[in-house]
Order: sequence, then C-alpha cells, then structure tokens
Amino acid sequence: MSTGEAWQGWEAKESPELFGVKKSSDPLDPRAFERANMELRNEEKVKEILGSATEEYGIQRILERMNEDGDLKEDVVEHSFRGASLAVDIGLELRLKSEELEGLALGMMLHDIGKRDMPKEILFKKGKLTDEERSVIEAHPVWGLIALSSDPELRFAASVKGVREIVFGHHGFRKKHPYPIDILGEWSSMGGGNMSEEQIRLIQLAATADVFDALASARSYKEAIGDREEAEKRMREDLNVPSEFIDMALARFEAKPALYNRAAA
Ligand SMILES: [Fe+2]
Ligand SMILES: [Fe+2]
Repeated sequence: MSTGEAWQGWEAKESPELFGVKKSSDPLDPRAFERANMELRNEEKVKEILGSATEEYGIQRILERMNEDGDLKEDVVEHSFRGASLAVDIGLELRLKSEELEGLALGMMLHDIGKRDMPKEILFKKGKLTDEERSVIEAHPVWGLIALSSDPELRFAASVKGVREIVFGHHGFRKKHPYPIDILGEWSSMGGGNMSEEQIRLIQLAATADVFDALASARSYKEAIGDREEAEKRMREDLNVPSEFIDMALARFEAKPALYNRAAA
C-alpha cells in the first residue's frame, strides 16, 4: 500500500487521532506527504516510533503551537515530520538500536526548532537573501540549541542522546558551505573528540533526510523536484555523508507529477 493510500485509509477511520494527536490541530498531518515525492517502506513501524516519542517527551504541544502559526506549518512542522519519518524509515532498514531511532525521531522533529523565533520576513523571503539575512537563517541550529536549553517543555527531549547533536549539526555536512561548523572537519581535527562514529553517522542520516525532504517537497517559496536524477545530483553535490544514505533516501523517491507542483495540485 502506498503512503498516500494508507493515509486515505486513516482519514476514513472513525477515530480522529493519529499518534495520539487530535485531528483538529494535528501537527503530524499525514497529508503533508502529499506534497512530497516520498514513499516510506516501514510506515506502520515509523508511525509507532514517532507516535511514542512525541507522546513520551511532550513534543505534541510544541508542534501544535508551531502548527497554529500558518507560516511555520508547512515549511517547518510538516517538513520536520516528514524528515523524521524518512530518517526513521531508513534507520529501521539500517537496523539501528531502538534508542538511536528514538533520538533520530526526536532530533528530526525538533531539528529546525530554532526557526520558531526567527523573523518571518527573512525566513520566508521569496527573493534573494542578503548576506546579513543569510547569516540570520544560518544561525537557526544555534537558536535551536538555545531553545532546547531554555524552553522547559523541551528539556526532557533535549536530554535524549542524539537530539542536541542533530539540532546543532544537521547542516554541518554540507560540502560547499557547512554551518554553523564543519562537523566532519572539526571532528577529525579533534581526533574524534567526544563523539563516536555512530553519533556522527546518526547526524549524517538526519542531514540526508533533511536535504531529501527539502528537495522532494514543495515549500512556500519553491516547487518540489519531480525528477529523481536531479534530486540525486543535488544530494551528491551537497552532502558529505555515506553514499549508502543517499541511495537509501533516493530509493524512497516517488515522482508524483500531479502533486509535486503545489500550484498544479
Ligand atoms: Fe535546518
Ligand atoms: Fe530542515
């Protein structure tokens, strides 16, 4: 069954809840996938992992609040939900341990939380960004870390291994312009520092899911890429991650010509 079909089934269900979240204000709206050229392979298991992580660590309210902000709904909340789903879907195939999957789910749900407090006129600007505006955007991983430490509702989730690393490091594997730091460069220059290879791989998987969803989904300021080869080219040019991660993400690429262009949908 395709992801889309499964969700049509969900819509028809009597219970208005998914992952324990009421449908009326559901931040984890499965219809978000209709805007993405993405097909999960372990959908039921992914739902279970995301659902229990969301419930156990109180993420639901955080996402609901962000979801009420129309601007953040698609480009941050739904993107984070899809990115978490994809990362966990791949993580299952890689047979990651359950605690790693939990950290991955929470980390991806919260990876762009730093955008919550950013000026909307910069965040969703349609034209070219000035250097100053770009540096504001590129501070979002740092703002995210601050949010994890300062928002009482996030402290519990922030204590889970992998969450802080993903929030801070998900743009740290860009080949041309890693930010806020070049994670691999720093990591090897410190002889590994405090981070294990497994932790680095977990952030790399998050980075892969993040970029894949950004390419494969429509955003408020751009259409989705409808061509798998183009998505592959962009990912290989952009990401300093194990090649198999890119392969596994692309294996979930499913072109939906009628849906990828929001204007045409
Ligand atoms: Fe980000
Ligand atoms: Fe992101």
